[in-house]
Order: sequence, then C-alpha cells, then structure tokens
Amino acid sequence: MGKKIHAYPNKEQMVTATTERVVNEIGQAIQERGLCNMALAGGNTPREIYSTLADDPYRDRVDWDRLHLFWGDERMVPPEHEDSNFRMVKETLLDHVRIPDGNVHRIRGEVAPEQAAHEYAELLHDHFESDSPRFDIILLGIGEDGHTASLFPGTDAVEECKLYTAAVFVPRLDTWRVTLTFPVLNAAREVLFLAAGKSKSDIVQRIISIKQPSKEFPASMINPENGTLHWMLDSEAMVLINKNAREVMFPF
Ligand code: 6PG
Repeated sequence: MGKKIHAYPNKEQMVTATTERVVNEIGQAIQERGLCNMALAGGNTPREIYSTLADDPYRDRVDWDRLHLFWGDERMVPPEHEDSNFRMVKETLLDHVRIPDGNVHRIRGEVAPEQAAHEYAELLHDHFESDSPRFDIILLGIGEDGHTASLFPGTDAVEECKLYTAAVFVPRLDTWRVTLTFPVLNAAREVLFLAAGKSKSDIVQRIISIKQPSKEFPASMINPENGTLHWMLDSEAMVLINKNAREVMFPF
C-alpha cells in the first residue's frame, strides 16, 4: 500500500527492474487469483519494457494463457496506424509471445470515440463480472503537462468519477482519445508510473511533491485506494527529487 519511489542509474536499468517487477506481479496475481489483468501504457517510455518482456529470460517466465492485456488509453486511429498504442504493443510484444487472441482486449480506435468508449466499458464490465473493474497491474506514463493515460488537464475526462471509460477530445493535440478513468485507475492493486529522461524531471518532482492532488495535474490524482503506486524512474527523471525524500528506494 502507499507510494514507493524506485530510482535507477539509467533507463536501461529502470526498464529491467520494471520488467522484473511486472513479471513477478503477474505471477503473484495468477497464483492468488488464477489470472492476471494488466492495463498497458501507450507512448514511447514503455516500448522497451514490452520488448524486454517479449525476450529471454522474461518471456518464458510468464503464463501467457492466464494473462489478459488491456490498454489504459488509445488514440482514435485504426489499429495499424503508426500512432496506435495497440500497434506499438503488437510490434514490441504481441507478435513475439504466445498470448491467446482472446486475452488481448484493445480499444477499437477505428470507430467513433463515444462508441469505442462505450464498447470498452461494456468489455470491462463483462470481463470483471462486477460493477468495478480491479486491475492487478496498470502501467502509466506521464506527460510534461501532468496528464496520464489520456486524462489531460482541462478536459471533461478528469471530471468522470463514475464511468469506467471516457472519450476525450484533446485540443492541444487536436485529436480524440479513449481512456480509462480515475475510478478504474485508482481501483488497481499495483500502479506503475514510468518516467525516464530529463524532460520528465520537472513534472515528476511537481507530482511527487504536490501537497494536494489536483485535476490541473491529473497524474497527481492517481492514488490507489487499496493498492500501491510505484514510481519507476531513471536518475535523470528524478534529478529534482529531494534526495532525502521519504520512501525513496535506491537499489543501486
Ligand atoms: C499515450 C499515453 C500517454 C503517455 C504520456 C507519456 O497514449 O501517449 O497514454 O499518457 O503515457 O504522454 O508519453 P511518453 O512515454 O512518450 O513520454
């Protein structure tokens, strides 16, 4: 429970440590509940984590038949489009492992945003057979404006506190997205924020040190009610963090 900061000397070690943590958490979920439900982050940061997971020695440590993959958000483009988060995961992970097609639950970026959001919410409801999806693991990136998934500051999506998903137009990007909402993200057992590189150091410091979570910085609203938030950082991303900050774990 709570929040933990894990800092590594460089992105390569952050990627390895995150992959190791994910593999262990997948195994623990399967051992405890018979399967693991994981939601994946989009963007660039997680690419190497997915390709590492698809490679030796990690690939053979995962029981792919009992792992179900979802996405934290998706760009509203066809699955083969270069901007598609599904395509990114397909290229780095899905094409290299034996995961059953029925275990891969993408957001349909090729249909209208509201329809895609509704379909995805229905899918979550059916899969979790309950009224509140609880993921075992959620991977999240963080944007320099404090967005996470596609919960962008100033959009209606950050106001959603009941529905599991939201279709959101992002003026700054002039694009539509579909995203999981805070109720789902904060119901997870383990949330891993992934940040690497100097360009993230300011937002990482701002979010970690914020006194009061604010929708102006949506990532600050991530606080799993009955789960743990792990910050997986390389040294560049955490260069502004007070080295004496509590719960900073330096495994190097
Ligand atoms: C997306 C992501 C988004 C991403 C952040 C960080 O679809 O782009 O869901 O929230 O995680 O923008 O992106 P980078 O990892 O590329 O910096």
